[in-house]
Amino acid sequence: MPQCSTVVSVHSIAMSYHSPFSLTTEGESMEKRSWAEPYKIKMVELIKMTTKPERQAAIVEAGYNTFLLKSEDVYIDLLTDSGVGAMSDRQWAGMMMGDEAYAGSRNFYHLQQTIQSYYSYKFTVPTHQGRGAENILSQLLISEGDYVPGNMYFTTTRLHQELAGGTFVDVIIDEAYDPSSKHPFKGNVDFDKLDRLVDEVGASRIPYICIATCVNMAGGQPISLSNLNALRVWCDKHDIVIVHDMTRVAENAYFIQQREEGCDSKTVRQIVKEICELTDVATMSSKKDAMVNIGGFLAMNDAKLYERACELVVVYEGLHTYGGMAGRDMEALAIGIGESVQDDHMQSRVGQVEYLWRQLDSAGVPLVRPCGGHAVFLDAQAILPHIPQEQFPAQALAASLYLESGIRAMERGAVSAGRDKSGANHLPELELVRLTIPRRVYTQAHMDVTAESVIRVMNCADQVKGLRFTYEPRVLRFFQARFEECT
Ligand code: F0G
Repeated sequence: MPQCSTVVSVHSIAMSYHSPFSLTTEGESMEKRSWAEPYKIKMVELIKMTTKPERQAAIVEAGYNTFLLKSEDVYIDLLTDSGVGAMSDRQWAGMMMGDEAYAGSRNFYHLQQTIQSYYSYKFTVPTHQGRGAENILSQLLISEGDYVPGNMYFTTTRLHQELAGGTFVDVIIDEAYDPSSKHPFKGNVDFDKLDRLVDEVGASRIPYICIATCVNMAGGQPISLSNLNALRVWCDKHDIVIVHDMTRVAENAYFIQQREEGCDSKTVRQIVKEICELTDVATMSSKKDAMVNIGGFLAMNDAKLYERACELVVVYEGLHTYGGMAGRDMEALAIGIGESVQDDHMQSRVGQVEYLWRQLDSAGVPLVRPCGGHAVFLDAQAILPHIPQEQFPAQALAASLYLESGIRAMERGAVSAGRDKSGANHLPELELVRLTIPRRVYTQAHMDVTAESVIRVMNCADQVKGLRFTYEPRVLRFFQARFEECT
C-alpha cells in the first residue's frame, strides 16, 4: 500500500466544465458554452471523511475487497451506478401513489404502458432486478450445448447463460480490447466472428445473440445504430433472436446522437426507441438508466414467450404483475424512464463523466478511451506494470485508492472474470478499475477530489503490492472474495 504523500494539484491541469460539443446560435461563431445540471438540490445526505489509519484498518478488515467495506467508511462512493442514483421529487411523489395490491396493481399497468411507449416492447414481466430477468430468459431460451454470442460478457449475464447449459461466445470488435483505440463505437459486433460461429456450430445451436447497449465491461462503450441495423439483417437471415441488455440504453443513444453520422438531429428519446425496435427481447436492470434504487424487467414482443415467462416468474420472483417489485417502486420506475431519455439530463449525466475523464487524461493517467457513459475506467495494468495479472493489479489499485482517499471504486479485471469451465482463471485483456458515477448524486467538486486522489496514487504506484486470495467464492467471486498482500 502506498505511503507516498506527493501532492499533484489538479488546478495545474487545464480544465473547463464545458460540454465537449460546441453550441452555436444563429449569427454566433463556434464558442464553448458552459452548462449546468438540469436540476437543483432539495435534500442532502451527509458523508464523512475518515483518517488514513481508520481506512487502513477498514481495507484489511474487508480483505482488500471494496465490496466488503462498510458504506459509512466510504467518502465518495464510486463502486457502482446501480441503485444509487438520486430520485427526483416526481419519483418520490410516485412512491406515495403505490398501489400495493397483490394482483393487478395500477402501477404495473402504468409501467407496462410506459415501456411500450418509450421502448416499444409489447409485454413486460417485472423482476426484482436485472439478473432476475436474465435468469428467466436464460432458462426459457437456452438448451444444454447451445452457444450464446454477445458483445462482450457481463458477469451475471454470462453466469445465467452457463447455468442454463450454454456457452458464451464473445463477438465484439477487437478494438474493444485495446484501451488506447479511439474507435467511437467499441460496442459493435464483428460479423466475421458471428459468421465463424455459425460455420462451426450451426445457427440452430444459437438461440439468441445478446447485445448490450453501452457495454459495461468494455468501458461503457456504445454500439452504433448502423451496426445494430446490420445485425438485424444478419439475424433475420439466420433466424436468430436479438436479446437487448438495455441497462444503459439511454447513454448509448446519447453517444449515437453525438457521434454517429446523420443522427445529430434526433432526440435521445427517438434513438432509444429506434434501438429497441431493432431487437426482440430485453432484459433491464432499471437501477441504472432509470434511476430507481431497485427493480428490473424482462420485456418482449412475442406473446408465446411472454406466456412462458409468466409461468416462470411466479416461481422465482412473484406474480406477473409485480415480479419482485412493490407497487411504489414500479411507479417510480415508470417516472424515471421518462426522465432518463431527456436530452438535457443525458448531456449533464455523460458530461460529468467526461469532466472527470478529461482531468485524468490531461494528467497522463492511462484510461480506456474514448470516455464511456457511466464510468471512467483506469488501465490498472498500465498503472501497475510491476504486478502480474495473476496478482490482480486492478483489485490492488482499487484497494490503494480507498486507502489513499476514502474513494471506493470497483475491480473489473481478472477477479471479475472468474474461472472457465475447466477451473482455470480467465485472464481478460482488460484489467481495469472502474470509477462509476452515480446519476445526479455528486458534484463537480467531488470529481475534482477524485481526480486528485487517483493522480496521487498513480504517483506512488511502485509501492502498491499484488494480492492473493485468502477466500474465493465459487461463483461471481468478485463480490465476496478476500485477499492479502503478496510479500
Ligand atoms: N447487465 C449489465 C450490463 C449490468 O451492468 C448489470 C449490473 C446487470 C446486467 C445485472 O443487473 O445488478 O440489476 O441484477 N451491473 C451492476 C454494476 C451490478 O455495478 O455494473 P442487476
